[in-house]
Amino acid sequence: MIVLGIESSCDETAAAVVQDGSRLLSNVVNSQIDIHSQYGGVVPEVAARSHLEVINPVINKALSDADLTWDDIDAIAVTYAPGLSGSLLIGTLAAKTLAHLKHKPLYPIHHVEAHVYANFITSQQSALSLKLPSTQPKFPMLALIVSGGHSQLVLFRDHGDYSLLGQTQDDAIGEAFDKVAKMLGLPYPGGPSIAKAAELGDPLAYQFPKAKMSGAYDFSFSGLKTAVLRRLQREVGVDFTFPSHELPGLVSEQQRYDFAASFQHVAIETLVDKAKKAYQEYLPTSVVIAGGVAANQELRRQLSAALPIDIEYAPIQLCTDNAAMIATLGYFVAQRSEPVSPYELEIRPSLSMVHEKSVV
Ligand code: KG4
Ligand code: ZN
Repeated sequence: MIVLGIESSCDETAAAVVQDGSRLLSNVVNSQIDIHSQYGGVVPEVAARSHLEVINPVINKALSDADLTWDDIDAIAVTYAPGLSGSLLIGTLAAKTLAHLKHKPLYPIHHVEAHVYANFITSQQSALSLKLPSTQPKFPMLALIVSGGHSQLVLFRDHGDYSLLGQTQDDAIGEAFDKVAKMLGLPYPGGPSIAKAAELGDPLAYQFPKAKMSGAYDFSFSGLKTAVLRRLQREVGVDFTFPSHELPGLVSEQQRYDFAASFQHVAIETLVDKAKKAYQEYLPTSVVIAGGVAANQELRRQLSAALPIDIEYAPIQLCTDNAAMIATLGYFVAQRSEPVSPYELEIRPSLSMVHEKSVV
């Protein structure tokens, strides 16, 4: 089964074609980073307008890169939740229109669940040359989902059958990377900037506390972010009333590197501590990481060192937002459920992946 995936939930317009939920035939991502970096973050109206301009060419390129025509496409999968309303609307509108015009079954996909499915892509057409895992993860599978909007640990018993073990009670990990990067005057998006600056810094230069949570697998990153801010103010000799947007001007290069490295060290260690605890309790057969922060090399290094199993990581291009993961999950959803009518599909900007903490 050949699925066309469409993704537009935030600031990437993406389309991809995947065969049988495992073989990547094309992967087109149009990033808006250059547009939003001048504002220091995503501007929703600007994002929606940009999606509208490029969505059709991006979809056409996904088909032509895969060397396919519409006749070859068996289904369309599209992100309908969660994300920015204006952004989600463009992708779903394109998908609904195409499903109707081309008579293709349409499957609505949850973006956060789809991030996990980047790990199921294990082969590709030769022109793509990504470094892919050799086999698909096996169940039970523990997924550490870490993105700009989410930080959660989820236990999958099977496709579509999963429980939330814990999640952040305040900021998402990616959000913390982005905010700390801003304090340090590092460019948007903060995650890759912090990771790069951290390579030149001392991870033990500053000690930051880890939050103590009542839920064994819950996270909190807001306290860490404030601890970094207070320590930074102290280091440069100003008090808490000093405007934070003026802080980067007072920070030396070495301080910037050391703060980035020390923050990253503690933030990643917090994730790995919880993942290790969950591994020891549930003894999953596979462990995967998913979402933009899964691109972080320090996370991969620490996690592999902490767990007694081999982890095969997805390539970075498939960790940050893309449509390959949407098409891959689309295949598995199509195996277990009926398509939706293009007339009935509606976006769900704040739908969470699992609504309540479920007991496993
Ligand atoms: O999954 P994603 O592309 O979009 C959402 O669904 O949120 O994740 C974006 C987040 C941003 O916060 C970005 O700073 C972070 O992923 N990120 C990283 C790295 N690359 C992207 N964080 C840490 N290290 C990285 N190498
Ligand atoms: Zn994402």
